[in-house]
Amino acid sequence: MRSMIVIAGIVALALPALADEQPVVLKEAPGLVQITVNCSGCHSLDYVRMNAPFLTADAWKAEVGKMRAAYGAAIDDEDSAKIIAYLAANYGPAS
Ligand code: HEC
Repeated sequence: MRSMIVIAGIVALALPALADEQPVVLKEAPGLVQITVNCSGCHSLDYVRMNAPFLTADAWKAEVGKMRAAYGAAIDDEDSAKIIAYLAANYGPAS
């Protein structure tokens, strides 16, 4: 019986730590699939949320271009266009 109580205590302690490790979920909108597939391989999608206050549509376009050209992200033109539209609509300074 005592071991049950100990186990329950360990689970209770572990729960908040698990909550911190939930994957970042971005806003539900057209393009979410493309950004999730193409942009979460190298870093957290939290980068999108952290930079949203500063990046206009043009800046997002440059950002996605930089991920491809400078960092070697393998994203085709079609997905890039969808991702840029998604970012401009959902993660710009105005949103
Ligand atoms: C091939 C790996 C790779 C992929 C795929 C990738 N990134 Fe990045 N990203 C990086 C690296 C490397 C950095 C800069 C170093 C760091 O801070 O981790 C970065 C940084 C960023 C930043 C922070 C600002 C900056 O310019 O440093 C943002 C925003 C960002 N990425 C968005 C995206 C988006 C949106 C996508 C999908 C279109 C994407 N990333 C896909 C490698 C990648």
